[in-house]
Amino acid sequence: MLTNFRTLYAALALAFALGGTVQALAPGFKPSLPFSLPPIPSNLPSSPTGSTPAFPGGLPVLPSPAQWADARLNDYRPSKARLAYRGDQGMAVSWSTPKQLPLPAVLFGKTPSLLDRIATSTTSITYNTSTYYSNHVILDGLEPNSKYYYLPILGDPVKDVRSFTTAYTPGDTTPYTIAVVADLGTMGSLGLSDHVPPGAANPLTTGEITTIQRLTMTQTTYDHIMHVGDIAYADYWLKEVVLGYINGSIAAGPQLYEQINEEFYDEMEPLTSSLPYHVLPGNHDSNCDNSGYKNYTESICPPALTHFTGYNQHWNMPSDLSGGFKNMFHSYDVGMVHYVVYDTETDLGGGLVGPEDAGGSSGANDGPLTSGSAQMDFLRKDLASVDRTKTPWVIAAGHRPWYMAAKSSSLCTVCQTAFEQLFNDHGVDLVLNGHQHNMQRQTPLLPGGVIDPNGLNNPKGPMYILTGAAGHFDGLDAAKTPFPAYTQFVNDTLYGFSRLTFHNRTHLTHEFVSSKTGSVLDSATLYKQH
Ligand SMILES: *[C@@H]1O[C@H](CO)[C@@H](O)[C@H](O)[C@H]1NC(C)=O
Ligand SMILES: *[C@@H]1O[C@H](CO)[C@@H](O)[C@H](O)[C@H]1NC(C)=O
Ligand SMILES: *[C@@H]1O[C@H](CO)[C@@H](O)[C@H](O)[C@H]1NC(C)=O
Ligand SMILES: *[C@@H]1O[C@H](CO)[C@@H](O)[C@H](O)[C@H]1NC(C)=O
Ligand SMILES: *[C@@H]1O[C@H](CO)[C@@H](O)[C@H](O)[C@H]1NC(C)=O
Ligand SMILES: [Fe+2]
Repeated sequence: MLTNFRTLYAALALAFALGGTVQALAPGFKPSLPFSLPPIPSNLPSSPTGSTPAFPGGLPVLPSPAQWADARLNDYRPSKARLAYRGDQGMAVSWSTPKQLPLPAVLFGKTPSLLDRIATSTTSITYNTSTYYSNHVILDGLEPNSKYYYLPILGDPVKDVRSFTTAYTPGDTTPYTIAVVADLGTMGSLGLSDHVPPGAANPLTTGEITTIQRLTMTQTTYDHIMHVGDIAYADYWLKEVVLGYINGSIAAGPQLYEQINEEFYDEMEPLTSSLPYHVLPGNHDSNCDNSGYKNYTESICPPALTHFTGYNQHWNMPSDLSGGFKNMFHSYDVGMVHYVVYDTETDLGGGLVGPEDAGGSSGANDGPLTSGSAQMDFLRKDLASVDRTKTPWVIAAGHRPWYMAAKSSSLCTVCQTAFEQLFNDHGVDLVLNGHQHNMQRQTPLLPGGVIDPNGLNNPKGPMYILTGAAGHFDGLDAAKTPFPAYTQFVNDTLYGFSRLTFHNRTHLTHEFVSSKTGSVLDSATLYKQH
């Protein structure tokens, strides 16, 4: 047993700067880690010479608070843990550390007291103005629909162990529910709070339950969460400074940006560390012009925002497994559902210019990020290969809508040109969007916005949901009236999110939930004869 522990300790030693900190901490530093470990993975570098420490106290017990209080560990202490599905037998585990981990590792197992397996990687990455490194490790060889406990290396075994449940196998018809948010920003004094400066709107009422709080209160009812673009709204640092909402200067932009972003990741940690959190890009995940806010010049763009740099480093979607690209587009299956996550901002292929591409409508220069028509090739191949006997439901999620009650210049017609026919050709059941900050449900639509005569009763075209009311510094957008004939429901005065329940192969229910009260504002059940 001691040998096994030493094996782990060797891995730990590598996770520190080699030969330095660990030696300095031993033997007082006694991490409480599993007693029985599998053999050292063959792909690990061998342990540093002479690094096998003695443990005078015998096999490790939980470290004393004093040991965990050792300030030297703070540089490697995990925070902001986040998960993403990787098939039904894997999970991507990511977390942040102030310093780079030479050997990111995750201990995991089926009970919290016996984390008897270890997975490692060499991915600990950052960019020049970030205050953290993003560490990414893949756990493989898991059982489907099974609960696991995990601890990022050097985490506190009392406070930092989290658990997740792996995905239902494709074809498993167990009903389940997911939560869907879009346009969700930092809450509190750096973002949306109960007071706003002139020029902003929709403050929270005092004590109002936010979307993040409501999701956290109800998290055990969700299989996983999707965030349909615009994550944190840290680019609002500029507007918040100019309006005097936060202290700071324009010169401190990159630091303020990081502060708001990290605050968001911390607020989300209870959710993202326990539920797979699948993301896709929105304009605020790049787009340095902060929606054209005054006082902007390109020279003040934080490095995180150029070409989706921070966004792509922070998350780890299963793009390599599904033929996607970084965190821009990917697909995954859970039980009865195939999820296709697409990018409306860049890389529309076919000579089209996305809103955030060079020359696009945003005036930004953040894409394309791939050459040729990589995204469209991916989507064509992905949608053509869906096995509807296993995953009868096909859900597409992308940031910008082309159908909604809004001024026509807000509709993403170039996105419609790129994606609409393809989605109809492949019988996509539901399209999830954000971008406009309110809640809207449109009836199923055929190409060109023709109302599907079948409505919710076995339509051919997809139903379109706009779920952009999660909340951020800038509040909500008023929906333009009169509403289009296809618009079935609008609420533009409450913060909220979507709840999507897959009952079986033929019935799906979409609900808008008020974050403030938890009540259902709208419910629609789609019947499809799959
Ligand atoms: C950060 O890196 C980018 C390129 O990745 C560079 O353009 C920029 O000047 C750097 N900024 C600082 C503050 O070093
Ligand atoms: C922003 O620009 C306005 C003029 O457009 C100026 O009065 C104001 O001081 C600027 N704010 C900051 C924080 O530089
Ligand atoms: C800005 O800083 C001043 C002085 O430190 C402080 O009194 C004030 O509360 C701060 N304002 C905000 C919005 O943080
Ligand atoms: C949104 O829903 C609330 C609660 O039902 C209602 O009071 C409000 O009028 C609605 N706002 C709309 C329809 O914009
Ligand atoms: C599918 O679920 C719906 C909604 O719960 C239910 O009405 C329907 O009978 C179910 N169909 C089958 C075949 O179980
Ligand atoms: Fe947006």
